[in-house]
Amino acid sequence: MTSSIRNITARYPKEVELRDGTPATFQTFEDDDREDMLEFTRGLDEDVLLFLREDITSPATVDAWLAEVTTGDTFTIIARVEGHIVGYCSLHTEPARWTRPARWTRHIGEIRINVDSNYRGTGMGGLLAAEIRQIAPALGVTKLSAQMTVDQEGARVVFERLGFRYQATLEGWVIDRDGNARDLVIMSCDL
Ligand SMILES: CC(C)(COP(=O)(O)OP(=O)(O)OC[C@H]1O[C@@H](n2cnc3c(N)ncnc32)[C@H](O)[C@@H]1OP(=O)(O)O)[C@@H](O)C(=O)NCCC(=O)NCCS
Repeated sequence: MTSSIRNITARYPKEVELRDGTPATFQTFEDDDREDMLEFTRGLDEDVLLFLREDITSPATVDAWLAEVTTGDTFTIIARVEGHIVGYCSLHTEPARWTRPARWTRHIGEIRINVDSNYRGTGMGGLLAAEIRQIAPALGVTKLSAQMTVDQEGARVVFERLGFRYQATLEGWVIDRDGNARDLVIMSCDL
């Protein structure tokens, strides 16, 4: 773990409050959270699972994710309410950027976010995304990107509120779990 990540992790756990006053805790995603994360991802609605970039309901994918957290290529905050994971937000950077720092997109970090459907519209997504936006500069990121299908309206709202702007639509760029092609929207924000 690099010193910049160590400094950031010292901020957590962090207590936050949802719009209705519900207390939540932000924590860094760690090996001990593996089973709780699988419980969370396996409880996601079918419509969310349809659009997952990777199958995060699979233990192998969660293990690979934790491995990226260990190398520092990915930084993930999990949100817990009454002990249960109800959402997460990740910042994904170039793989192995610590050892191969010359990549031309090394300044870009991609945000990925998911909130339990029971907690949508509570401000949780906005709080999580703002948290990641705030720590991104300390991880060497100067531009944030977010990718979503055109159907993911809640994501567009959250990212626009944080200052993200529309960049491009890539037609038929992703296929959902049912094998149907979807257009991918890319948004970005300079820090
Ligand atoms: C995107 C996501 C994290 C937002 O979480 P959230 O907790 O609902 O976020 P917030 O409550 O902070 O704000 C969401 C806002 O979008 C609005 N919204 C949601 N769906 C909308 C729609 N179809 N049209 C217009 N606005 C919409 C909500 O009303 C809310 O606005 P409000 O604050 O005025 O009530 C959540 O919807 C989610 O997990 N979606 C599935 C995964 C996903 O799309 N990820 C993005 C790819 S990286």
